[in-house]
Amino acid sequence: MEVEDIRKVLIIGSGTMGQQIGFECARHGYDVVMYDVSADGIENAKMRMEKITNGFVKSGALKAEDAESALARMRFTTEPNDARDADIVSESVPEDPALKGKVFSQFNGICPERTIFTTNTSSLVPSQFSGATGRPEKLVALHFHDTRYSRIVDVMPHPGTSQETVKTVIAFARKIGQIPIVLHKENNGYVYNTMLMSLINSALVLRANDVASVEDIDRSWMGVMHTFVGPFGIMDSIGLDTVHKVQDYWANMLNDPQGKKNAELLKSYTSKGELGAKSGKGFYTYPHPAFTKPGFIEGDE
Ligand SMILES: NC(=O)c1ccc[n+]([C@@H]2O[C@H](COP(=O)([O-])OP(=O)(O)OC[C@H]3O[C@@H](n4cnc5c(N)ncnc54)[C@H](O)[C@@H]3O)[C@@H](O)[C@H]2O)c1
Repeated sequence: MEVEDIRKVLIIGSGTMGQQIGFECARHGYDVVMYDVSADGIENAKMRMEKITNGFVKSGALKAEDAESALARMRFTTEPNDARDADIVSESVPEDPALKGKVFSQFNGICPERTIFTTNTSSLVPSQFSGATGRPEKLVALHFHDTRYSRIVDVMPHPGTSQETVKTVIAFARKIGQIPIVLHKENNGYVYNTMLMSLINSALVLRANDVASVEDIDRSWMGVMHTFVGPFGIMDSIGLDTVHKVQDYWANMLNDPQGKKNAELLKSYTSKGELGAKSGKGFYTYPHPAFTKPGFIEGDE
């Protein structure tokens, strides 16, 4: 399939990332079907879409009328059969290879043969579930970062992905305003996330071993690097449940005692429903977390 043949995008999983990716596609002119298995998930996505568009309009990145026409191109559904005529799929269900395989297998039975499947997995690689898709040559990772702040996306094929699929997905990424980083081979964590994971791990080790406070760890990074957010603020924006899943998966996989300690620290937040920015509380309290306030670096909280 050529990029010009793509008209309809199906988003599977309308959570934090599905919402952002769906909106990027819609604002660049594509018809978007937002699918979620949960009716609450769909209601939440509709609500959050208003917030996302308001954010773009307020910052001047989008005119109000363009935001409105983007929203008009989006449909929200819990009915899998609404995926029947999708040209490309972007999957953003929770980070679990078995679940991703199950979902792709389900949609392989619904989508036309031409449909390209992309996954937004953070830490897995497509070959972990390519067999389950029934169309491994049409599966590639197209991985987004937080689209409010970044246009960098990773395009990562697995050994069975066809060159045609890679070429079309690179072109599609550009069509939706993104800057593709094309990986030569599979790598857990792509390019940026490989570097980010080292930062997040170091921050968790420092906190889990009570070397310093959350605020001081972030203050240290932000103060030296001149960034507007530190590792704990980043974890809050990713979602602590997602960060916990990744930590827990690798800690168990590698039987790593420090990794398990880090996962426990995250669990102490997620078990109270403190999931980060999306739930209003995580390491910081939202919508105005301490690290965004003047004087944070100086320590006058
Ligand atoms: N949060 C981030 O910053 C970020 C960034 C890049 C990639 N990712 C990756 O994106 C994926 C989704 O992460 P998220 O943060 O958006 O998660 P999320 O928990 O916010 O959303 C997941 C959504 O998937 C839905 N879902 C669960 N099972 C489903 C099924 N069988 N069919 C359809 N929908 C189903 C849930 O109801 C939920 O709405 C993960 O693989 C994650 O690693 C996350």
